[in-house]
Amino acid sequence: MSKAVVFGSFVVDLMARSPHLPIPGETVKGSYFKMGPGGKGFNQCVAAHKAGSDVIMVTKLGKDAFGKVATDTMDSLKMQKDHLLFSDTEDTGIALILVDENTAQNEIIIVPCALNTITDEEVNGTEKIISDAEYVLLQLEVNQSANESIVKLAKRHNCKVIVNTAPYSPITEEFLSEIYMVTPNEVEVREITGVEVSDIESCDKAAKFFKEKGVEIVVITLGEMGAYVSTKERSAIIPSYKVNAVDTTGAGDAFNGALLAALTEGKDIFESVKFANAGAALSVQKYGTTPSMPDRKEIEKFIVAQSKKQAGIL
Ligand code: ATP
Ligand code: RIB
Repeated sequence: MSKAVVFGSFVVDLMARSPHLPIPGETVKGSYFKMGPGGKGFNQCVAAHKAGSDVIMVTKLGKDAFGKVATDTMDSLKMQKDHLLFSDTEDTGIALILVDENTAQNEIIIVPCALNTITDEEVNGTEKIISDAEYVLLQLEVNQSANESIVKLAKRHNCKVIVNTAPYSPITEEFLSEIYMVTPNEVEVREITGVEVSDIESCDKAAKFFKEKGVEIVVITLGEMGAYVSTKERSAIIPSYKVNAVDTTGAGDAFNGALLAALTEGKDIFESVKFANAGAALSVQKYGTTPSMPDRKEIEKFIVAQSKKQAGIL
């Protein structure tokens, strides 16, 4: 039995680093270019898989060279490919990513292509794996009608739905009411709830909004501050690890993937968020998205080293 499913995007990332991000009309000479696997769904699935989770990826590709980037990556990582969907007419999605090499800030344009065409029939084809899974993790990069259908399917099979509300797009109250856990970042929280989060009090206010709609657990990622968690019983901010970040693109994905891996192995949500902070802290020290996801050994070694550092042993 597979414990988790990630239902979401694969795109090819075309990433360039430059001394500053161009303003409209400006051309900037870059210093580095890389093409590789990406998409929030795929990044999160790879992060969960490398962190030790038994996880299945469902995404939709074109029958083209960029689609092959997905299948080749999955082969090299020994991931299950049985639930990939293919479009006869649309291309594999792409993302253009610009990273400022001085500030590590980024700008992204994603063109979903085939990801906008997932049908109800294709969603229903996942019934067996959803019924076997404890969790399904979604993002907002595929057509929202597909996300709405998978949430209904998951509900019928007692599979818990985690939604990483990225990138922000409008969602309905009905959709929110069927979600077990949300994992927005600060920008998405502001867009969805109207609350500007900066501390535990403002996070509590935003969490109240989600809980009133029916969400059980609220996790808000707060960049280098760490992540806020709120359950029925308590809320807290779990601080991030202090590291030298060179590229934060995909930090949210590293966090969500590691979080899924920790939850599926039965860690409680507070322990899981600590583990997710470690996965994300490792990813921001490397360039790129999918390729920056750490494996289980790296995460465990990092957590041990950080505890020793805190205790003054190292
Ligand atoms: P992105 O869109 O860049 O992928 P995000 O906005 O979805 O990221 P963030 O809240 O910025 O997500 O970061 C997710 C997690 O990554 C944080 O909760 C934290 O654990 C970790 N993180 C982010 N930035 C840093 C940093 N500079 N140092 C250490 N950890 C970081
Ligand atoms: O979160 C990072 C991801 O967002 C990139 O891999 C890019 O594909 C965009 O979807």
